[in-house]
Amino acid sequence: MRLLALNDIEDGGFAEIEATIGDDAESLLLFRQGGQVRAWLNICPHAGRRLDWAPGKFLKDKQGHLICAAHGASFELEAGLCVAGPCRGDALRPVAVEVVDGQVRLL
Ligand code: FES
Repeated sequence: MRLLALNDIEDGGFAEIEATIGDDAESLLLFRQGGQVRAWLNICPHAGRRLDWAPGKFLKDKQGHLICAAHGASFELEAGLCVAGPCRGDALRPVAVEVVDGQVRLL
């Protein structure tokens, strides 16, 4: 299923999109790095809150980590591991996506 165009995401930036996974409507967090996109559920493993402070607006610190807007947990953006904050050692739940012909698709 097509989610959005690669160029809808700034390089090094994020996007949020709703998608149906299994039978559930989920909010996804997408992160672009060049021609690659990684995706996770937009759910913080700490208290289950959304990671964005407003829809589609995510915080990134100087180390390039994603910061949860709720209580400041920080996540590296390769595996989605929480590297600091209240859920250190936990990880975001990955969602498999691919980029084909400039389109980001759910696998
Ligand atoms: S819900 Fe993300 S740090 Fe608490």
